[in-house]
Amino acid sequence: MRALCILGSTGSIGTQALDVVRRNPDRFRVLGLGAGANQELLVGQIREFMPPIVAIADEDAAAELKRKLGAVRGVEVLSGPHATETLARESDADMVLNAMVGAIGLPPSLAALQSGKTLALANKESLVVGGELIMDLVKGEPDRLVPVDSEHSALAQCLRGDRREDLKRVVVTASGGPFRGWTRDELAKASVKEALAHPTWSMGPKITIDSATLMNKGLEVIEAHYLFGLDYRLIDVVVHPESIIHGIAEFADGSMIAQMAGADMRLPIQLALGYPDRLPAGIHGLDLATLGRLTFEPLDREAFPAVDLAYRAGRLGLTYPAVLNAANEVAVMAFLEGKVRLIHISEVVGAVLDEHEGAGVVSEVTLQRADGWARARAAEIVESL
Ligand SMILES: NC(=O)c1ccc[n+]([C@@H]2O[C@H](COP(=O)([O-])OP(=O)(O)OC[C@H]3O[C@@H](n4cnc5c(N)ncnc54)[C@H](OP(=O)(O)O)[C@@H]3O)[C@@H](O)[C@H]2O)c1
Repeated sequence: MRALCILGSTGSIGTQALDVVRRNPDRFRVLGLGAGANQELLVGQIREFMPPIVAIADEDAAAELKRKLGAVRGVEVLSGPHATETLARESDADMVLNAMVGAIGLPPSLAALQSGKTLALANKESLVVGGELIMDLVKGEPDRLVPVDSEHSALAQCLRGDRREDLKRVVVTASGGPFRGWTRDELAKASVKEALAHPTWSMGPKITIDSATLMNKGLEVIEAHYLFGLDYRLIDVVVHPESIIHGIAEFADGSMIAQMAGADMRLPIQLALGYPDRLPAGIHGLDLATLGRLTFEPLDREAFPAVDLAYRAGRLGLTYPAVLNAANEVAVMAFLEGKVRLIHISEVVGAVLDEHEGAGVVSEVTLQRADGWARARAAEIVESL
């Protein structure tokens, strides 16, 4: 029986993770839940799973949560901006699933690893921003970091059992998002509603916009670099609109191993939570004859410059990926609020990256400073547009 702490339990990944727990009551128990502000959903999750400790960042939501929990005994409620970090550190769980969105996920990821727990990581921003710090904490114990992102879960499966020296490169697949085939001029007119209508995946709003600009793929390239210790020239991206093949490993002899599954995040979530076991998921295998065909096409790097921005930031390393991520978070929010156009997102990110002078060392302090600077600079550029 694995004891879990789920951060971001009210989000898309978090609710699907609880679904996995619900289907496997003999395998998992929940010792902690963390959320941002959605106390309505969290209160129901607490009543169902009865974790001894929960965290909610928003203070007003915490007050309301405590009022509603009045009659429920034995649940400690942490609140405030550091609540999930405290929860990740102090919970008695064996494994923390970090399904928060954004760079705010990094401190809880570090806390989970520093306190000896296994980290199941959906929050890709943790690795993009603090990849060096995270990988340092799992040095010599690679099984303490388990990917949840479908592409990285796929690659980890493709690499199970093969000799790493035989690996030639990995290929991360991209659906292409809702604007696949659009020109830059057409993208300039894309609405928020169109950008939120992803063709194959149902996800939270931030990653859905990142999928529309393809910044999500860029963040995943950086994530793969850290997770698998691969040079950026060994990580490729190919567009695969059907979202059936999630990752491919190519070996020295030219052989390629690919992982295939339907676009259902419960599969990689379940594989991570139950790692290394494969649990019966209630998810059916693919009917290949009905699928008919799988197609691939190159990335349109001109229409979607975000991927190359991520390669650039990743290769520069140091605080550059943190700056890429922070500027992107600000620009995505501005797009969702109707303040900028979709194509402005990568323009803002590119401008902030151009101006950044990377810190000489990577530490929590230098990363935080770079993140704060990039957010402020991105906000200024957004205002000037
Ligand atoms: N969704 C997917 O299919 C998918 C696939 C692969 C990777 N990922 C990655 O998984 C992560 C989560 O994505 P998602 O789509 O599940 O996002 P989401 O639906 O927007 O959920 C985000 C979660 O983070 C919580 N949160 C926000 N601010 C917080 C704060 N200050 N403190 C604590 N918790 C906070 C939210 O709580 P409230 O709602 O209560 O505010 C919510 O539970 C992202 O890094 C994403 O890139 C997602």
